[in-house]
Parts: sequence; C-alpha cells; structure tokens
Amino acid sequence: MSSSQRLVLVLGGAGTVGSGIVKCLLQKGFRVAVISRDTSRLDMMKSFVPVSCKENLYTLLGDVGSEEGAQKAAATLLSQVGKVTDVVSSLGFSWWQGGPPHMQSLQELQKVLETLLLSTFTAWKAFFPLVKDDPDATYTFITGGAGERLLMPGTGFLTLGAAGALAFSQVVREEYPEVPCKLNEIKINMGVAKPERLGPGYVSHLEVGEAIATVVEKKRVSHTVLCVKSTTDLKTLILEGKL
Ligand SMILES: NC(=O)c1ccc[n+]([C@@H]2O[C@H](COP(=O)([O-])OP(=O)(O)OC[C@H]3O[C@@H](n4cnc5c(N)ncnc54)[C@H](OP(=O)(O)O)[C@@H]3O)[C@@H](O)[C@H]2O)c1
Repeated sequence: MSSSQRLVLVLGGAGTVGSGIVKCLLQKGFRVAVISRDTSRLDMMKSFVPVSCKENLYTLLGDVGSEEGAQKAAATLLSQVGKVTDVVSSLGFSWWQGGPPHMQSLQELQKVLETLLLSTFTAWKAFFPLVKDDPDATYTFITGGAGERLLMPGTGFLTLGAAGALAFSQVVREEYPEVPCKLNEIKINMGVAKPERLGPGYVSHLEVGEAIATVVEKKRVSHTVLCVKSTTDLKTLILEGKL
C-alpha cells in the first residue's frame, strides 16, 4: 500500500511532538488526521503545514479522553475521512512542574493521570481495533524518559503520569504478542521543542517527527521499544526505520 493510500491518525497531533510528526508524514505523502479539543489549535496546525500538503490533512474537533468521546471521534473519522490504517499516540503534555507531592491535591494527580495515561487508554480502546488485525497497519506509542526518573525537583506528578503511559504501552505489547499490526513504542529520552524554542538538551520536533514518520513508513519492527537518546539515534531512525 502506498503512502497516499494510508491514513495516519496522529493523536495529540496539534501538540509539540505531534505537530512535527504530522508535518513529516504529510511531506512523505501520507494522508493525516488530527483530533484536538481546541479549534484554534487545529487552525494553527493547518497554517503550519505546507500548502501543497493541506488537502491531505483532516482535522477534527473532539476529546478522546473518555470512552464515549474516543468512540465518537472514531465513528466521525470513518464516516467523514475513511479507514484509519495507522495510529500514532502522542497524547499528554510537554511539562508539569507543580512541586513536590505533599503540596499537591488528589484532583491535580487525577488531572495529570487523565491527560497522560487515561486518554492514552481510552484512545487506544477506540482505535486499536481498527488496525490490530492488519499486517500493513501500525500503532505507535510515543513516550518519554520522564516516566523512568524524576527529571528535576517538583516534577513528580509528570513522572507518575509518564510512567503510567510507559507501563500501558508495555502491557499492550505483552498482552497482544501475536497481533499482525506493527505495534511499537518510541521513547524519547530528550526534550522536544519547536525550532524557535530549542535549548540545551532539546531536539527539534521536526527531526523527531521525521524519525517517527520513517518508523511508520518503513514498518521494519514490531513489539519493540525504540529508545532515542541522542541525535545520532534520530539519524539512524531516519535512515533505517529502526535502531
Ligand atoms: N515535549 C517533550 O519534550 C517530550 C519529550 C519526550 C516525550 N514526550 C512525550 O510526547 C507526548 C506529547 O507531548 P507534547 O510535548 O507534544 O505535549 P503537548 O504539546 O501538550 O501536546 C499533547 C497533545 O495531546 C492532546 N491531548 C491530550 N489529551 C487529549 C484528549 N483528551 N483528547 C484529545 N487530545 C488530547 C492535546 O490536544 P489538545 O489540542 O486538545 O490540547 C495536545 O495537542 C507526551 O506523552 C510526552 O510524554 C514529550
């Protein structure tokens, strides 16, 4: 199946990491769908992609953070755009540094878990059935190193949420060892930012986007964690589609 026949749903596609993935997938000739809870973020997304690719970008207002919302988005996509062949799950947020746990409320923890873990689950529950039995399909989780350690003081809840997303991706790999769909996790152990906000220790979302788009394009591995620790790893992924 050629890229132009594939429809990639990028969950979190209007975000920092997601927008880089969306742009690079479009440049590779894929059709790409993005769901956001915010119309203005979808409008920004449309103005961010090259004019020549705009007709292949499909934007949808929706909330995949509940089972009903995710199912509704899946039904709308199917009826208005077509069959999803690939999913990239890049839900969550870029940063949280609200302070140490004793200063936090249960409500704050629930909010963090909803954004990083629960939406990853509800979206997966709605969209995985669409691709899981197809050997030409892919489902790719984007995770980060925050799930393995405290990045700095005051970021504990980020670690809890990111660890939940990491563990969920592992659970899916181990519970569904035989699915023909290419099921992978790309764990980015670096900060990701838009080019205008790059600082030390950060890489461009476009470089990350190109690496992730290549993994989706080449479909070289399945049930694998591709751990990106350096720009060299990104370059390898861009060339090989695997590490
Ligand atoms: N940024 C980094 O430095 C970095 C590094 C390594 C790994 N990561 C990982 O990459 C992932 C994305 O991070 P990011 O930096 O791109 O965050 P971001 O800029 O905040 O984008 C996250 C996206 O998730 C979407 N989202 C969250 N809950 C949703 C829901 N219920 N329904 C629909 N969309 C929802 C948001 O959509 P809306 O448009 O609706 O708000 C937003 O566009 C996270 O898992 C993070 O751990 C990030």
